[in-house]
Amino acid sequence: MPSERFFITTPIYYVNDLPHIGHAYTTIAADVLARHHRQRGERVFFLTGTDEHGQKVQQAADRRGVPPQRHVDELVVRFRDLWQQLDISHDDFIRTTEPRHRQAVQRALQALYERGEIYKASYEGWYCLPDERFWTEKELVGGNCPECGRPVEQVSEENYFFKMGKYRDWLRAHIREHPRFILPESRRNEILGFLGRPLGDLCISRPKNRLAWGIPLPFDPEYVTYVWCDALVNYLTAPGYPDPAFTRWWPADCHLVGKDILTTHAIYWSTMLKAMELPLPVTLFAHGWWTVKGEKMSKSRGNVVDPWAVISEVGVDAFRYFLLREVPFGLDGDYSREALLQRYHSDLANDLGNLLGRLLTMVEKYQHGILAPPGEPDAAFDGPLRRLAEGLAGQARAALDEFAFHRALQAIWEVVGEANRYVERSAPWVLAKDPAQRGRLATVLFTTAAALRLVAVSLAPFLPRTAEAIWSQLGIEGSPLTATLQSAGRWEDLRPGTRVLPGRQLFPRIVEQ
Ligand code: MSP
Repeated sequence: MPSERFFITTPIYYVNDLPHIGHAYTTIAADVLARHHRQRGERVFFLTGTDEHGQKVQQAADRRGVPPQRHVDELVVRFRDLWQQLDISHDDFIRTTEPRHRQAVQRALQALYERGEIYKASYEGWYCLPDERFWTEKELVGGNCPECGRPVEQVSEENYFFKMGKYRDWLRAHIREHPRFILPESRRNEILGFLGRPLGDLCISRPKNRLAWGIPLPFDPEYVTYVWCDALVNYLTAPGYPDPAFTRWWPADCHLVGKDILTTHAIYWSTMLKAMELPLPVTLFAHGWWTVKGEKMSKSRGNVVDPWAVISEVGVDAFRYFLLREVPFGLDGDYSREALLQRYHSDLANDLGNLLGRLLTMVEKYQHGILAPPGEPDAAFDGPLRRLAEGLAGQARAALDEFAFHRALQAIWEVVGEANRYVERSAPWVLAKDPAQRGRLATVLFTTAAALRLVAVSLAPFLPRTAEAIWSQLGIEGSPLTATLQSAGRWEDLRPGTRVLPGRQLFPRIVEQ
């Protein structure tokens, strides 16, 4: 049974630098799921935002020589702008420097403190500055941070700790009992492996004299909150915590995260919630990483892919399509302009763009631009395309329930491919020469249009602009972006007699300079 509501989140992004395709990837994937669930008629809450405290942001501000608040206020604009350009349909955008968030973090920490879940202790350990994490001597790899491989420094200070370690057995059991809690399965096994070893307590504070850019601990203003304990709480802040009405949305149905931040979500966040006696999110899905020519993207290598540049070359929809079609969600992938242009020309321009273009030209030429009512269908000839198109929404839904974006897109392109073959086989240009075949011609054009209309419905969460263009060029009223599967998901919903309105070519060829 579908749940009536769907709460989906992206990570909140550090505003230490401009957003790149890695950030765009998670956000686009979350957007597709949000739009898809709206199509199902569910109430959806789609949350994204920015992580504005902590050392990384402080350092970025220092490098630019501006106060941290000014730095974050300036950079957040670029995130908002990119989401707007990418047609991201979030319902809320949270910034961790907002008063609502400061209040939520302080309430959550106070609650943990009052429950005896937090204690103060002197701590000596190895600290990785870029990752803002302490490690024990044993955890280091060759004397360096086991996560990023960079050098660590020894730090000794008094801090506050959350009693995370005592939840290890409970968490292992929870993961085992809820197979959809951590996906994909390989990641779930990794986390279980991690939990096979002893689990320490979590240092949740930073002394103010070392790092001032954070939310003060409510029970000791000499400390600020460790950035991860601050950031994770955003998922509660946005639905309204500490107002009890936050349970209108909480627990989240899905936190989408990159594989590098699964541990913090699966372990820190789960145990914090447990200690607050709050329910856990239904699913944490960890996607893979994009590399460029096999290498990690980084400023120093100069290979960071700029999403604005990609959008200006191929358009928003082609970018959205490529990211979700090229690589199964959950695996790593390699980004290249060649692969992007290849997909653009073959899947988008040739298969989909030409199908619409040909159909519209034929309706103009043979039916004066008005889609005629179909004649009697030929079950053997017209049936397969209709059946495939009618089954599409179900296929897309099943794939998206498994976070298999690429499979949903494959299913859509199977219909596109079948429609192209159908047009070829029917040869409307031959039928048009014979007045006795007028009914048959009408059936062929109508069948193709009805299939394309259903393609647009299933495509709408992925390529919103393209789906709208298909509908409007076919002369269909309303918008596939606001239609639900119930209101517009049937074959019969296409009405004959509509006037087609050929417009701009969906995907004009990109000529190499
Ligand atoms: N602020 C934390 C998240 C806190 S959530 C409570 C953070 N921010 S981040 O800006 O560094 O990264 C955010 C997301 O971008 C992560 O999910 C990460 O996996 C993703 N990506 C960053 N680079 C990426 C690629 N090259 N490829 C795919 N995703 C990548 O971590």
